[in-house]
Amino acid sequence: MGVAAKIAPSMLSSDFANLASEAQRMLDFGADWLHMDIMDGHFVPNLTIGAPVIESLRKHSKAYLDCHLMVTNPLDYVEPLGKAGASGFTFHVEVSKENWQELVQRIKSKGMKPGVALKPGTPIEEVYPLIEAENPVEMVLVMTVEPGFGGQKFMLEMMDKVRTLRKKYPALDIEVDGGLGPSTIEAAASAGANCIVAGSSVFGAAEPAHVISLLRNSVEEAQRNS
Ligand code: DX5
Ligand code: ZN
Repeated sequence: MGVAAKIAPSMLSSDFANLASEAQRMLDFGADWLHMDIMDGHFVPNLTIGAPVIESLRKHSKAYLDCHLMVTNPLDYVEPLGKAGASGFTFHVEVSKENWQELVQRIKSKGMKPGVALKPGTPIEEVYPLIEAENPVEMVLVMTVEPGFGGQKFMLEMMDKVRTLRKKYPALDIEVDGGLGPSTIEAAASAGANCIVAGSSVFGAAEPAHVISLLRNSVEEAQRNS
C-alpha cells in the first residue's frame, strides 16, 4: 500500500455565496480535504479568497483546509492563515527561492502542514532541496494547468514530473491540480499521485459522490498494481 489517497474538491468551483454548505456537501460526498485556492491578482491574473474567508469557513467546519497559495509574497500569509485555521499551506517554489527555509519553519510553527507547488514550466529538480532539507516540506503539488483558473485542460506531459518524484520519494504526498476528473485520473494515479484536486469535474457532475469515489478508487487501484 502506498501513501493514503486524499480527494480534495477545489472550492474555487463552488458557489462562494454558500461556501459553508458547499463544503459540507463535499464532505458528505466523501471528500477528504477541501482545496482552497488563494490568489492575489498578481502571481496569477485572478483574485479569489484570503484569510477572512478561511476564518469564516473554519467556524462552520472541522475539515482539513488544503490551502494553495498563488501569491507573490507567501510569507505575509503565514500568520493570518495560521490564525484563521488553515490546515495545509502550500506555497509556490517560483516565488520562494530566497526564503523557503524560513517559510517552512514558520508554517510548521503555526501548526500547518508545509507544501511546495510548481508551475508547469518549472523543472522538478527545483523542489528537491525542499524535500531533502532538515526541515522539509511534507507535500509537493505538481500543477497540471497554468495556475489561475478552474476548468482548464489537463497537461499530460506533467506526469513525467510525478513519476520522477514518486520513484525518488515513495512516502511523499504528491498532489496534482488542474483538469483532473474521470478521463485523466488514470494517468495521474498510475504516475504516482495520491492527493487529487478536482474542481469542475466534481462540482459540475450530476453525482459528485460518484466522481469522488471514482478518483479514490483509481488511486488505490494504481497503488495495488505498482
Ligand atoms: C487553478 C487552481 C485549481 C483549480 C482546479 O489555478 O489551482 O485548484 O481550481 O480546477 P479544475 O479541477 O476545474 O481544473
Ligand atoms: Zn489549486
